[in-house]
Amino acid sequence: MKIAMIGSGYVGLVSGACFADFGHSVVCIDKAAGKIEALKRGEIPIYEPGLDGIVAENVAAGRLSFTTDLVEPVADADMVFIAVGTPSRRGDGHADLSYVYAAAREIALAMKGFTVVVTKSTVPVGTGDEVERIIRETNPEADVAVVSNPEFLREGAAIADFKKPDRIVVGIEDERAREPMVEVYRPLYLNYSPIVFTSRRSSELIKYAANAFLAMKITFINEIADLCEQVGADVQAVSRGIGLDNRIGSKFLHAGPGYGGSCFPKDTLALVKTAQDHGSAIRLIETTVAINDQRKRAMARKVVQACGGDVRGKVIAVLGLTFKPRTDDMREAPSLSIIQALQDAGARIVAHDPVGMEAAKPLLDERVSYAASPYEAAAGADALVLITEWDQFRALDFGRLKEAMTAPVMVDLRNVYSREDMARHGFSYTSVGRGADDHGEVLEAAAE
Ligand SMILES: NC(=O)c1ccc[n+]([C@@H]2O[C@H](COP(=O)([O-])OP(=O)(O)OC[C@H]3O[C@@H](n4cnc5c(N)ncnc54)[C@H](O)[C@@H]3O)[C@@H](O)[C@H]2O)c1
Repeated sequence: MKIAMIGSGYVGLVSGACFADFGHSVVCIDKAAGKIEALKRGEIPIYEPGLDGIVAENVAAGRLSFTTDLVEPVADADMVFIAVGTPSRRGDGHADLSYVYAAAREIALAMKGFTVVVTKSTVPVGTGDEVERIIRETNPEADVAVVSNPEFLREGAAIADFKKPDRIVVGIEDERAREPMVEVYRPLYLNYSPIVFTSRRSSELIKYAANAFLAMKITFINEIADLCEQVGADVQAVSRGIGLDNRIGSKFLHAGPGYGGSCFPKDTLALVKTAQDHGSAIRLIETTVAINDQRKRAMARKVVQACGGDVRGKVIAVLGLTFKPRTDDMREAPSLSIIQALQDAGARIVAHDPVGMEAAKPLLDERVSYAASPYEAAAGADALVLITEWDQFRALDFGRLKEAMTAPVMVDLRNVYSREDMARHGFSYTSVGRGADDHGEVLEAAAE
């Protein structure tokens, strides 16, 4: 298959590289000239574990190339994927589809012969209809089938997710697209990843419904965590106790500072807007969005409380800035709101993140300073706040930290550590939803 991938960000680049790895011939296209120049030099513009190797191998094999100009690759392609951004539109929270529609116009002018145009970007129900309308209006001769094929990869594990998806969702209206879609995913299909064929509209909605459900699950356990704190229960025990029920499942049941990232915040909001526009409000998700928005500043209040009720003039060391570990993506990271709220309360912030500091700098107040290690960040700090659970922060040397800090105060917003351990190290310790020490894990460990 000859593939043109429009948009070479987290999704476009990973998908393009993986399709090339399956043996297809792929051209990744992006308007951002700097990104394409970097890729041509063999540099990967984003941090995604394993992506550099797979890109290098497929470039060397002649199956993967990069360009800013879509005309030739689109004319040549059997399939054109749209993987451009669909951020929240300023002002109203709807998905901003201007990049998708602009890409559709450009594709329409460049395509030759029968072409399958596949929307991989996350787009509201009905976008496929509009993409098809735009292509036919721009080029009445166009012989096109417009397909919806939402992407479910997670940053930080994107290659594995792309190559071993739980399912591949394909929404078609034109039967001619079925065979090429099976062909392009054949290696995964042979590995028993089911392909779910649906109508285009159902496929578009599947993506939003999936993300909204996961965001709701996280928000649910966050509220249970708050209740645990009030009633003297431990959210990790509750989470395990409910997660072992197959109907519930254990994933996305980790209490923390609220969801962030490039997908959940904008996708929940876009679903809420679509539903309202169609007179079918999804109040569960409206509430999920509202709870999550408030939660981030509530986490800052937790830090203030841990510091004795006042952080004015105090130094707070923040560990982890990206919205989750193993990515440099700062979009809607909880750290942004938490740091802002702490600065509003008069604190001085020293931050450390293993890969996200460059991406964070333009988004954070210029008074934030950056440290090269957790220990450098902790020097002279009145409290240490763990916001993103990078592996590097899972075995900190608390003796060393305590010596460096002004006060041994630790706020662990990811429940990485245990209260007993932290007490042993002489730290005052605050975590999320752990109103009581729990012995369940200890008993189970003994039984094993
Ligand atoms: N990031 C994720 O984990 C993830 C997962 C699943 C789905 N998605 C969805 O995939 C889509 C892309 O997300 P992303 O995180 O890769 O975005 P991104 O911002 O990292 O990348 C989008 C890229 O598209 C380029 N672009 C925009 N218009 C273009 C055009 N007309 N021609 C060529 N290039 C153009 C931009 O320059 C940018 O590099 C979004 O709809 C997102 O919701 C993202």
